[in-house]
Amino acid sequence: MPHPEPADPAETPATPATPATPATTDTPPAEAVAPLMRGVAVLHRLTEANGMLSLSGLERATGLARSTVDRIVATLARMGYVRLDGRDAILTPRVMELGNAYLAALRLPELLSAHADRLADELDESVSLAVADRDGIRFIHQATRRRAMSLSFRIGDLLPAERTAPGPLFATEWTEEEWQAWRERRTRDPRNTAYPTIPPPPNTTHATVGHDGVDEDGDEDEDEDGDFIRRTERAANENYALDDQLIEPGLVAVSVPVRDPRTARIACVANVVSHTSRHTAAHLRATLLPRLRTAVAAMEETLRQAPPPHPGPPPAGLATWTGASKQELGREFIESLARGLTVLTAFGEGRAELTLTDAAKATGLSRATTRRALITYEHLGLVTPAAHRTFTLTPQVLSLGFPPLSRTTLPRIATPHMTTLTAEIEETTSLATLTDAGDEIQYTAQATASHVMSVHITVGTRQPAASTSMGRALLTPSPYTLMDEELEQGVRTIAVPIHDRTGRVIAALNAAAHVARRTPEQCVDEILPALRSTAAHIETDLHTASRFTHVPLT
Ligand code: PHB
Repeated sequence: MPHPEPADPAETPATPATPATPATTDTPPAEAVAPLMRGVAVLHRLTEANGMLSLSGLERATGLARSTVDRIVATLARMGYVRLDGRDAILTPRVMELGNAYLAALRLPELLSAHADRLADELDESVSLAVADRDGIRFIHQATRRRAMSLSFRIGDLLPAERTAPGPLFATEWTEEEWQAWRERRTRDPRNTAYPTIPPPPNTTHATVGHDGVDEDGDEDEDEDGDFIRRTERAANENYALDDQLIEPGLVAVSVPVRDPRTARIACVANVVSHTSRHTAAHLRATLLPRLRTAVAAMEETLRQAPPPHPGPPPAGLATWTGASKQELGREFIESLARGLTVLTAFGEGRAELTLTDAAKATGLSRATTRRALITYEHLGLVTPAAHRTFTLTPQVLSLGFPPLSRTTLPRIATPHMTTLTAEIEETTSLATLTDAGDEIQYTAQATASHVMSVHITVGTRQPAASTSMGRALLTPSPYTLMDEELEQGVRTIAVPIHDRTGRVIAALNAAAHVARRTPEQCVDEILPALRSTAAHIETDLHTASRFTHVPLT
């Protein structure tokens, strides 16, 4: 199929991937889809900016013309990956379906995260799982502790191998070319400026801290690269590695590889992360390493016994959807970007390795379109060829929006939807959950209507569950609940439940109106349908976000 996008003379070429996603600075192959590369660049920049950038900020960060940025953002908004708030583009939970496709195809989070969570509970320390990503490591699971000082990285964060404990374990399997790529990166960027999530290396002797958590010779000139090579040799002999404050003062970790039972190669690395106020690195090794090893043995047993994956349904109705969007938005909708991004979602559980034909079938796209998207992704490092003419996703797919959203909460997911609802019905809307005791509700988010008689309730306020519409929606699984003049005379509220992925009611959404503004019948006729569809939007986002991350309710 010929290139579907009209050439825009104002468009500069897609900028090379950023340092943190240094897939390539090579010239793209002739068949690469330029609008898809630019769309991916926009997602990368938004991710690095923690999920939000103004349109002019995006223009600067990508080097693209403003008209191009506008069209890309309009297309991403149409896909539900981005929303516009004034002049800001903000990543939405829906974009996590890209990372979800990688994590589902990988299967390791599904099979191993319960082990990691149990170990974190047992040790009362953070536990994480990381995979190799070129000469770095990328996190695929985090079981974090709720402490005042949060130590851990986010799912999808990339760290340079030499600054971590898992790094030397993965490096035991590096080929000569991979060592060469690492050396070149070290020469190009000795202070790791390409990794925005970590501070630059300290100027002190930390780089020379030895495997025992003890300075070997205190020699400040001892080079970090030699240190990494020695740590890799030890990791090969001892099948574990330590991070003694390589990332920042106080942060320590001990790591053990989880091996694929069929190949004996490292599938991922399990880490216990702590702080020197609780454990020195030597203490971590003495006390927690044995328990980490036991947990890893159980993880490997789970991999050995894993049943074959269950392929879920492929993305449906895509061709119709992109066609309709093009009809509706015209030039603002970049169809080749929308189609190309969908190719990533063709992958998933039971669909880790797809041929061109498989990917075309799963998406409903033509072979030519699918092929060009795969060529583009291979160039960008998001897809890699595998056995028998198949392709697989790489961990770099997690750099498309996942880290900033991996720590979202239900109130943050709900708020933009509630703002839209309030604007539509002109009534205050609130979100609440049940307290632990179960007899009270607690307000967790609110969008306040701006008219004089609007209802205001402070977030955090508690009310008896039994006498509120939201409490009733949370306590009784009856489909919908209307309460008249609850708590306060003159306020009429109507509430609907919010369900988690398993169908459990975990929150309620309500609208509150002054009795003078609407009759009970008007509430049902005018508000309930909008309330229901907003609840459905919140649930869709929640279910996408919580597939591989824990989404707190407050
Ligand atoms: C983490 O999970 O946050 C972590 C793991 C290993 C490290 C450092 C941090 O070396």
